[in-house]
Amino acid sequence: MEFKRFEYSVLVIACIFTSLTVVAAYDSLDPHGSINIKWDVMSWTADGYVALVTMTNFQMYRHIMEPGWTLGWTWAKKEVIWSMVGAQATEQGDCSKFKINIPHSCMKNPTVVDLLPGVPYNQQIANCCKGGVVGSWGQDPSAAVSSFQLSVGRSGSSNKTVRLPKNFTLLGPGRGYTCSQAKNVLPTAFISADGRRRTQAMMTWNVTCTYSQILASKNPTCCVSMSSFYNSTITPCPSCSCGCQNKNNCVKSDSDIRSVVGMMNTTTSVAPLLHCTQHMCPIRVHWHVKLNYKKYWRVKMSITNFNYQVNYTEWTLVVQHPNLNNVTEVFSFNYKPLIPYDSTNDTGMFYGIKFFNDILLQSGPEGNVQSELILQKDMNTFTYKQGWAFPRKIYFNGDECSMPLPEDYPYLPNSAHAKAIASSALAALLLLVLLTFW
Ligand SMILES: *[C@@H]1O[C@H](CO)[C@@H](O)[C@H](O)[C@H]1NC(C)=O
Ligand SMILES: *[C@@H]1O[C@H](CO)[C@@H](O)[C@H](O)[C@H]1NC(C)=O
Ligand SMILES: *[C@@H]1O[C@H](CO)[C@@H](O)[C@H](O)[C@H]1NC(C)=O
Ligand SMILES: *[C@@H]1O[C@H](CO)[C@@H](O)[C@H](O)[C@H]1NC(C)=O
Ligand SMILES: *[C@@H]1O[C@H](CO)[C@@H](O)[C@H](O)[C@H]1NC(C)=O
Ligand SMILES: *[C@@H]1O[C@H](CO)[C@@H](O)[C@H](O)[C@H]1NC(C)=O
Ligand SMILES: *[C@@H]1O[C@H](CO)[C@@H](O)[C@H](O)[C@H]1NC(C)=O
Ligand SMILES: *[C@@H]1O[C@H](CO)[C@@H](O)[C@H](O)[C@H]1NC(C)=O
Repeated sequence: MEFKRFEYSVLVIACIFTSLTVVAAYDSLDPHGSINIKWDVMSWTADGYVALVTMTNFQMYRHIMEPGWTLGWTWAKKEVIWSMVGAQATEQGDCSKFKINIPHSCMKNPTVVDLLPGVPYNQQIANCCKGGVVGSWGQDPSAAVSSFQLSVGRSGSSNKTVRLPKNFTLLGPGRGYTCSQAKNVLPTAFISADGRRRTQAMMTWNVTCTYSQILASKNPTCCVSMSSFYNSTITPCPSCSCGCQNKNNCVKSDSDIRSVVGMMNTTTSVAPLLHCTQHMCPIRVHWHVKLNYKKYWRVKMSITNFNYQVNYTEWTLVVQHPNLNNVTEVFSFNYKPLIPYDSTNDTGMFYGIKFFNDILLQSGPEGNVQSELILQKDMNTFTYKQGWAFPRKIYFNGDECSMPLPEDYPYLPNSAHAKAIASSALAALLLLVLLTFW
């Protein structure tokens, strides 16, 4: 009876603890990760101004995939958008007050999307027209920027009369981002291409948008399974890792997919169309401890796509494991340590090689990517015992994946106590949480 109550309070506290950490939208593996929106007023016009809006994704491993970003805001006064270059407002709204020149958009709260690649040159500016796709900073800083220009009217045309737009919203494509209020900051300085002339914006406004996984989706979107050369047990993803709400309309085999897609009548269904699995996740990451050498050990990683409706372009995989400070070789993926100057140095990102495996194709025979890595053992800490060889955390595309319970990891044979030790370690951890929070 006592024990039950203890377990219950541990559970409650664990839940509170988890929700606290998640609501704070702080990602310990990418503490400075956010998307920054800079609104530079470049020049004044008769009734307003021309602004260059630049979105920079400083997140190391979270990018904005197809179908791209959607940016919204609410005008503080009665502003209109006369014209845009490199993006467009999705709705014109009611412009009936205008008789001769008709604005691009009269919406009080315009919603803007990027143009698609291949628009005529006179509709483009630098860093535009990528269908709203923005790369992650860790993969390629030059692809992590998206810009557009707009001409605003009825806004006031001096730094005393203009007002900052309010309530910025960024969808990218999900609802994970929350944006700060716009702030007046030091005007941006621009240096000409030849470096011989410096100009500056009239005014610059700054907005920061941060990501929260729990806002984006109630359940995880990926899970981890495990196996090893020293134990034939394959530890599957926990059941219903990603919630089982789609269990009734999942697809049992690849050959069924055509008929199901035909029946779906295109956009009516919002639920992702998944291959039926016991975890019901769109993505599974498998970690296989493959080989033991004297001074090294070898891991095979596979990422499998169970989603029939998404090709994951420029996917990223983040792994936390204490031995990543001694990665010797990575096959078929790119690798970049994320905190290389920190003494822990235990986290890194993997991503695909361009034109080879940077797209994780939709569910089916081609819907997976694989890699192997060789790590050098640090003889003081290295062990196969107690699941040490398995990752501490895995993120796919910036979302943390669901992991099996430590006591379910494949164990070294003849370590009958391993299970007991693992569960008591877990209990000790929970007790620590209990003590610090009560
Ligand atoms: C507005 O511009 C004037 C002249 O450029 C400058 O002196 C003043 O500090 C500016 N005010 C604000 C609020 O930026
Ligand atoms: C901005 O959002 C806040 C909170 O959602 C709301 O109270 C406020 O009215 C909004 N302001 C505008 C101008 O829409
Ligand atoms: C904009 O805000 C972010 C975060 O608040 C800050 O790091 C950045 O330096 C600001 N940019 C400017 C130009 O002040
Ligand atoms: C799909 O749409 C067509 C025409 O709009 C309709 O006749 C048909 O019943 C729909 N099928 C399903 C499964 O909803
Ligand atoms: C994914 O890519 C393949 C190959 O380019 C294409 O045939 C397929 O239609 C794409 N699927 C989706 C859901 O976009
Ligand atoms: C961090 O790990 C990387 C990859 O294993 C390694 O190249 C780098 O030297 C390490 N940095 C430090 C400071 O140990
Ligand atoms: C890698 O492992 C070797 C052997 O244990 C060790 O000497 C070296 O310091 C390790 N490198 C790092 C960056 O930890
Ligand atoms: C393999 O690991 C499982 C735990 O996942 C354990 O129950 C089993 O006893 C291990 N097998 C051997 C041969 O030790």
